[in-house]
Amino acid sequence: MTISQDILSVGVYDPDLTLFEGQYRVSGMAYNSYLILDERIAVMDTVDAHVGDAWQANLDRALNGREPDYLVVQHMEPDHSANIAAFLTRYPRATVVASAQAFTMMKQFFGVDYADRRLVVKEGDVLPLGRHTLRFIAAPMVHWPEVMVTYDEYDHVLFSADGFGKFGSCDTVADWADEARRYYIGIVGKYGAQVQSLLKKASTLDIRAICPLHGPVLTENLGYYLGLYDKWSSYAPEESGVVIAYASVYGNTRRAAEALAEELRARGETVSLYDLTCDDIHAAIAAAFRYDRLVLASVTYNGDIFPLMRSYLSGLVERNFRSRRVGFIENGSWAPLAAKVMRSLLESCKDLSFTDTVVRVRSALNAESAAQVQALAEEMRG
Ligand code: FEO
Repeated sequence: MTISQDILSVGVYDPDLTLFEGQYRVSGMAYNSYLILDERIAVMDTVDAHVGDAWQANLDRALNGREPDYLVVQHMEPDHSANIAAFLTRYPRATVVASAQAFTMMKQFFGVDYADRRLVVKEGDVLPLGRHTLRFIAAPMVHWPEVMVTYDEYDHVLFSADGFGKFGSCDTVADWADEARRYYIGIVGKYGAQVQSLLKKASTLDIRAICPLHGPVLTENLGYYLGLYDKWSSYAPEESGVVIAYASVYGNTRRAAEALAEELRARGETVSLYDLTCDDIHAAIAAAFRYDRLVLASVTYNGDIFPLMRSYLSGLVERNFRSRRVGFIENGSWAPLAAKVMRSLLESCKDLSFTDTVVRVRSALNAESAAQVQALAEEMRG
């Protein structure tokens, strides 16, 4: 794929991957890498180990007999760095360009820090290639501490490392928001402050294309993508709506959650229901950040809450869930305490408001708990 007259994509799409980073469900994954052909040639990052051969074949085709002068390493996570050693063996005259911390990690991963063929760069440093000049921008914790992104001053391209990436293929931007949100919240969501800092630096640049390390190159309507990143990284809700995440064993807690959904929809609310026992937990986590209200429904289980609800709450807390309105449904046949436990697990979250009504189901919905469902629906109205 050609991004400009001099910039080519040489990345690889793996259609068979079903689990990214050992936990995120995906239908394939793209590992991007770019080639800048100028008087001096730069390769921007490598790819995951198991698509290394396909990447090398793409690179060979695009180089058409020339040799790269630089390998720019923006991020050392192995889905991008796995082929550094092989690259530097194949191209013995190439220099590797990265942050000081990235070289420390190279030593850790590969046992060598390339002291005799490296260029250590930091915020604001530039690398002239001919027509193109690359300017390096530190982006610590987006998504590891060594990360930098790179701005090409000639074509006005931002090579954004993990930023603006998504799960799945590069084929289309049609479903970009859903898969980019799930990717962002899942992988970088904890580091909102650091993303805000990067967005501030990016706002001073004239960016005409964004080249991430996953997902499609973004060339149009860039304000839309930057706006979503601003929302996600500031933890502001994207839309008005209620997420109901429930963990039910025999269906009674599910029926309470569904009754609440019905009541809310009857009041004109957008509702997204997630069954934590079978739905993708990371989609449910991303949804909690997308909308402005959340209801958690769990059975009481071993004097605690259902384990998958505990995982869900951990997933929210570790990603800095905040600034939302939250309600609870609990079920317990003899000593219901799930609401108390769920609320205590959200204690460290900033700026949450809780409804007065807690729905308490004793085994199954009855007239009393059905009335509580209605009261909770009233309180959860936007
Ligand atoms: Fe795609 Fe943080 O690596």
